[in-house]
Formats: sequence, structure tokens, C-alpha cells
Amino acid sequence: MTLILAIETSCDETAAAVIEDGHRIRSNVVASQIELHRPYGGVFPEVASRQHVFDIVPVIQRALSDSGAIWADLDALAVTRGPGLAGSLLVGVNTAKAIAWGRGLPLVAVNHLEGHLYSNWLDEGGKIDEAAITRPSLPALDAAGQAFPTLVLIVSGGHSELILMRGHGQYERLGATLDDAAGEAFDKVARLLDLSYPGGPAIQKAAEGGNAAAFSFPRGLTTQPEHRFNFSFSGLKTAVLRQVRELRNASGGSHAADPRAGEPALLENRELPIADLAASFQAAVVDVLVAKTADAARAFGVGRVCVCGGVAANKALRETVARRLPVPASIPPFFLCTDNAAMIGAAAHYRLLSHGPTPLDFDVEPNLALVDNG
Ligand code: KG4
Ligand code: ZN
Repeated sequence: MTLILAIETSCDETAAAVIEDGHRIRSNVVASQIELHRPYGGVFPEVASRQHVFDIVPVIQRALSDSGAIWADLDALAVTRGPGLAGSLLVGVNTAKAIAWGRGLPLVAVNHLEGHLYSNWLDEGGKIDEAAITRPSLPALDAAGQAFPTLVLIVSGGHSELILMRGHGQYERLGATLDDAAGEAFDKVARLLDLSYPGGPAIQKAAEGGNAAAFSFPRGLTTQPEHRFNFSFSGLKTAVLRQVRELRNASGGSHAADPRAGEPALLENRELPIADLAASFQAAVVDVLVAKTADAARAFGVGRVCVCGGVAANKALRETVARRLPVPASIPPFFLCTDNAAMIGAAAHYRLLSHGPTPLDFDVEPNLALVDNG
């Protein structure tokens, strides 16, 4: 049995978890900073790193005690080295290095995106979400790689990527966003509609009573063959903005320039059809994500698709993935979609097997990519 204590502080969640054999969650503790950042409408980097400093030690202690293990039971430590906010990453990395040094434990530095991807290897993550997926049961993803090649759609606040995974640690990037990430688009459009932070869950909630066909927003990059597997969401965001302006003009509204963004200041949003706008926007994002994933799944003859990252928590995306993908798909339960350390522990397990521990002189890498081909 291998026990890894993993630490994740790349953005605004202070998290620690103990993972057994790369798949079993023995403990999973997440201290969320959402309430702290809400007044700013987004993550305030300095506030985030300061809060990580406050939370990191109790979160680690809690993860260890919840797991029923003691320090002497651990085989290794793992920590997110990037991508993410430099000041946030530093808290996790320096804490992990100090513990590794002090306790003489090997340390594995993990790419945050690889973590999201491995959320599908956790026991809870690899299971089919019955509410969302109605297909026959999936083959287990195992160390022998029987389920490879697997196609992975990563959709988070900072990334939207289609990755072909031929084996553990073997990634080929098929496509990525040319501008905004899917989660970023949710966050920006939520701000535009005066919805609260974080934008993804707020749009999802606002869309519940809305008509997804009310506005026909553009589906970016669906016709250009050279961008077959790439995404673009900034045009969609602009289309929502234009629609909002049009609706306001039609109702006799006026708008002043917003000095921060050069965009219209938010006026009275109460009269706007927020539910229809949110539902139509969400449908456009989901449509493009699922269409391109289905196309790539067919083109590369994969046996399975994994969807992961914060936006994978979106109900409309989960339902559409279940209905429209040509192969079985797995999406982790909600608590493993957004940032957590369990996924970092799962990724670290396979990285330790293939590469061994990371020498302690590594640094944080805020712009770290999952693969080097772009
Ligand atoms: O993976 P994550 O927790 O952090 C990053 O690594 O970026 O993803 C956060 C992103 C945010 O943009 C948030 O708005 C989005 O995931 N998100 C959602 C939902 N829940 C979180 N987007 C759409 N629908 C949701 N239910
Ligand atoms: Zn993330």
C-alpha cells in the first residue's frame, strides 16, 4: 500500500488529502476562500496567499487525522507546482518542502492540470455519475492502461484543453482555447449580467428558469478546419455584451463607459431577461465543448472520454455529455471537479512510479503547461 499526503494551493482553495494507492480517498480537506473574494468579484491574489498562510497547517493536520494515518505511515508528499498564482503556489510548495525535508519524505511536484485529469482515477471520480450518465458501466481505468487511449476535456477557470492520453503521463494536446477559458467566460459573462462570483454556479442557477433558445449566440471556431479542436469564447462574451446593449437601447436605456474595461457600466439589470441570456450563453458554451469533444473522440477512436475541471460541475454540460458523446464518459462528482488535493495525490501516485521523487530545488511555475506542443 502507498500513502501520499497531497497539498494544493494554486488559486483560492487551501487543500490537503491523503490518497491510498492512487485511487482511494482516505481524507480530503478543502478550505474555500470564496466568501473572502466575493466582494472583489474575483480572486484577489495577495489576499489569497495570505489566507493560505493562515490555513495551510491546520488543513494538513486535519487531512492527516481524518485519514487515520500518522506521519510514519506516509510514503510520500505531493504538491502542486503550477500553473496558478505565484504567491498562492509558493505557500503550498514551501510548506511541502519544509515537511519533506524535516520528515525525510520524498516529495512529488505535480502539474495542477494533471491533477484535474486524475480526478477521474479516484474511486469516486472514475465511477459513473448515475444522475448524469446513462450509459452501460465503464471499464475501470487501471494501471495496465486498458482504457487508453482516453480523451480528456479539461475545462477550468484558466484552461480549456482537449488532451489525448495514450498512457499514464503521456499527453498530446489536440486543442486549446485561443482566448478565454470556458470558466473565465462564465465568470466574465456573470459579471456582465450582474450575477455573483464565482460566475459558473451563478449562471447555472440563473439559467434554470430560462429558455436556451431565446438568443442564438455564436458557436466559436466550429467551421474552420485548422481550428477543429481549438476553442474560442471571447466572441461569445462580446455577443452577450452586444445583446445586453441592444436590449437596453430598445428599452430606452443609456450606458456610460466603464473606465476599467472600456465596456458599458452595469445599469439596471432587473428588466433584462437574465434567465434567457444565461441559458442561451450556457447552451452555446456547452454545445461547442461537447461537439468538439465528440468529434475528437471519433477522430482518434478513443474508448473513453474523461471530463474534468471546475466547469465539469456544470449540470447542463454533464447532461449533454451523457447524451451526445459517442463513447462512455466519466465526470467526477461535483466535489472533485473544483480544486482539491485528492486529485493531486492521485496524479502524484503515477508520477512517483514513472519519474520518482522531485529534487527539492524545484520552483513554482505559474505558467506551467501540461504538454510542450503549444
Ligand atoms: O478548476 P477550478 O476550480 O479552478 C481552476 O483551476 O481554474 O475552476 C474554477 C472555474 C471558475 O471559472 C468557475 O466559474 C467554474 O470553474 N465553475 C463552473 C461551475 N462551477 C465552477 N462553471 C460552470 N458551471 C458550474 N456549475
Ligand atoms: Zn483547477
